[in-house]
Formats: sequence, structure tokens, C-alpha cells
Amino acid sequence: MRANPAIVIFGATGDLARRMLFPSLYFLDADGLLPKDLRIVGAARSPLRDSDFRAEVEKAVRERADAPLDPEVWKRFASRLRYCGGDATKADTYGCLAGLLEGCEERVFYLSTSPALYGAIVRGLAGAKLSDGESRIIVEKPIGRDRASCDAINGELAQHFSENRIFRIDHYLGKEAVQNLIALRFANTLFEPLWDKVSIDHVQITVAETVGVEGRFAYYDEYGATRDMVQNHILQLLCLVAMEPPADLDPESVRNEKVKVLRSLKPIAGADIARRTVRGQYKRGVSEGGTAPGYTEEEGARPSDTETFVALCAHVDNWRWAGVPFYLRTGKRMPARASQIVIQFREVPHSIFGSNELIANRLTIRLQPEEGIALTLMNKTPTLAQGGARGGFELKPLSLNLSLDDAFAKTRRRIAYERLLLEALQNNSTLFVRRDESEAAWTWVDGIIRGWNQQGLAPAPYAAGTWGPSGAFALTERNGHTWFE
Ligand code: BG6
Repeated sequence: MRANPAIVIFGATGDLARRMLFPSLYFLDADGLLPKDLRIVGAARSPLRDSDFRAEVEKAVRERADAPLDPEVWKRFASRLRYCGGDATKADTYGCLAGLLEGCEERVFYLSTSPALYGAIVRGLAGAKLSDGESRIIVEKPIGRDRASCDAINGELAQHFSENRIFRIDHYLGKEAVQNLIALRFANTLFEPLWDKVSIDHVQITVAETVGVEGRFAYYDEYGATRDMVQNHILQLLCLVAMEPPADLDPESVRNEKVKVLRSLKPIAGADIARRTVRGQYKRGVSEGGTAPGYTEEEGARPSDTETFVALCAHVDNWRWAGVPFYLRTGKRMPARASQIVIQFREVPHSIFGSNELIANRLTIRLQPEEGIALTLMNKTPTLAQGGARGGFELKPLSLNLSLDDAFAKTRRRIAYERLLLEALQNNSTLFVRRDESEAAWTWVDGIIRGWNQQGLAPAPYAAGTWGPSGAFALTERNGHTWFE
């Protein structure tokens, strides 16, 4: 970075900043990964003195740390912190900011606010001459709630920041196990020759959460599972599974390949809406050992037909993947917090093992809570059986299991935001979403939501603590497949 760099967090008193951003910056500092002279400026509406702001940040970092803070590190970190209070839509706020950023040759602005403020913030920055070539912005999802609003937001950002200076964050791309997907595919020769329709029968991507809407009813109800999770996190996972090998790990090479996948997604419309999509909404049930309220009984709730669960049967229409179903599923109040990708290989073309059932190979990539990789293989059991001409083979599927948690047991599990903040500070946008990716993802998702609206398809009920409505099982069973839990 250039001399006197700074990162400014708009929305500095908000939930994301408190739970993720400040703790991440602190941990980076503790590991010596922040530039020595980096200033960290918090900006939010409430009037706070620097000392009060530091106390707030200290509390947030303590809550997140598993060990007491190192006084030396905290002293260094606290000395970086400044606060600028004010209304993001008023010019004087940016005057205060410009004063605090005096002499900074490189500035990163993190917009951890409602997207409704993005336009005002970039205009304010430009008005205070803070949007020149040495400035970058990081924006949080949701980038809109459909293609049209995404275009409007992207258009506002583009008026003052060129695309290579806009970092759209998807925190799934900062997760270790997600990045390991790139290593698994492109740092090994084993899988790539098999990674296509010839050898792969279908793919399942599940992101299941046990939590409900966690006090965010007002936000969530505007979005629902499809906009909140599928448009971004799940489609990003799908891209990493389905993309062609990029020429390099540089931002454009990787994102060129991802956007091709998004553009190849077969639209779901007409009769396919009922056949290839399932929406659900949780009702009262039992979750994590206690009674859980239904979605419309959550705090602040009102009657709603927003989905808290969605399952889709997607197809990537290109030479590599033609005809291979990609089942995507995400939901709140599921029985377990489990995110995984399952690559189901095809069955052997011909069995020489008589009545033995041959289970096709399966590669399971566990993303959370545990991180690991499992490969199931058929094996012979060490038994003697009456086999006649077939040699008495008795077979059983067993797994090769690789636990990344055990393999890297001594390495602290990082918050996904640590990696992403570091990359943004280093001006590397490989792990951020490019404008055309966000647009292509919305175009596909919009088609599905339009279909639901046109066909009046309300979400089906499911009890909290279950794997979604029965339609979700029918979705895979129709093709002779079953979800792996
Ligand atoms: C967020 C969604 O982007 O991701 C939340 O808005 C969801 O609704 C969260 O709970 C899941 O993230 P993680 O890292 O806990 O899987």
C-alpha cells in the first residue's frame, strides 16, 4: 500500500461492524498483517468521542476473541482508531472525514450500511474529493433485490468509482473451505479429468442453518431465502464447482470463468417452476432441543409469504455440464447447521459382482461447521462367502476422510472477513464479485421469482427442525436422486 493508508467503516456502530469487521481487523493486526501506518476510521450517525468509540470496539473485539487481548496489540490497534459521527446524506460529514484522512494516499471505504445509502455515500465522498484513483469501496450484499435495483445501485457506484475499485463482498468467498475448492480442483490432477457430465451424475449444494431470522424479520421478509442466500452465496459455490480452469488466479481470469457459468444457467420458467423449484416457510416446531416459533410468529413478524427455504434443480447449459442436475438447497430452522457440496459420480457401467449393490463414488466437501473432504469408495469386506464363479465377493462402501480441522489443528480458524479485508487492502479483487456476475445472478433468480408470482406459488409449510417441505424430496426423487444429509 502507499503511504498513510486508511480504511473507513461506514455503519461502524452496526451489527456487522461489531461482530465481524473490527474483530477481523484486530486479529489481522495481532498477526502483524496490517500496514504499520494504517488508520481505521469508524463513521456512523451517532455522535461519539474517539474514546467512546474505542471502548465500543474493544468490547466487540473481546466478545469475539477466545483469549484475553494482548495489551500491546490492543494499544497499537486502539491508536489507529478514529471516529467521525454524522449523517451520511449531509456534506459536513464528509468534511469531517476528509480532515481525518488528511495525508492518506490510499483509502478504502467499507459501506456496511443499508444499500439505500450507497448512492449518498459515494456522492459525499466525491464531493469531498475522496473518490479519486487511490480510493476503493467495499460494498456488502444485498446489491439490490432484483436485476433492476442491482443495476441502479451499480450505476450509482460507477458514477464515482471505476469497476476495478469496487469490491462487492460475498463472505462465503472468504471461507477457507470455499477457497480450498479451488485448490482441490486445480492443484490436483485426480478430479479434473472426471469433472464433467461423463463421470458426474449430479451435484448437490446445501447450506442449512438451524437459526431462524435472528431478530431481522424486517430485513429478511423483504428478501427471503432465494435473494438472501441463493443469488449470492449458493451461486458463488456453484460457480467454483462448475467453472472451467482459469488461466491464472488474477481477478479477471477467475471472474471471467465464473460469469460464464452464471450466464449458462438454464432459465427456470413455465412448467419447470413447479417441477424444478420448491419454496417453504417454517412453522412452529422443535429446533435445537426447544420449541421454535414459526416464521410469522417471530419478533416483529406479520403475515407473510416470504420463503425461508428454497430448493432448486438447476442446469448449467454448456458442453461440460449438459444434462447434469445441480440441486441447490438452503433453509432456516433446519435440523442441523451443515453446508456441503456433494459430487455424485456415475454408477459403474456394468457390475461383475452379482447381487452386491454397488454404491457410486461420492465426493463430499464439507464447508461448515466442520471443514473436510470425504470420498466414498467400494471395498471388499474380509469375509468368505459362497460365491461360486464370482469368487464370493462381498462389497461395502467406505470413506476416505480428510479433516481440514485436524490437519490444521494449530491454525486459528479465521473469520471469513479477515481474508477479504486483507485482500481489499492489498487491492486484490479475485475474491470479490464483479458487476457482471451480480447482474447475471440476478437475471437468473428474477426469472424464478417471476414464475412464482405469475403462478401464485406460495411457500409450502415445514415444521421448524425438519429438512423443508415434502416437495423438496420429490424434487430429487423425480430424477431418481436423494438428498445427502
Ligand atoms: C448472510 C445472510 O449473508 O449469511 C444470513 O444474510 C445468513 O441470513 C448468513 O444467516 C449465513 O452465513 P454463515 O457464514 O453463518 O453461513
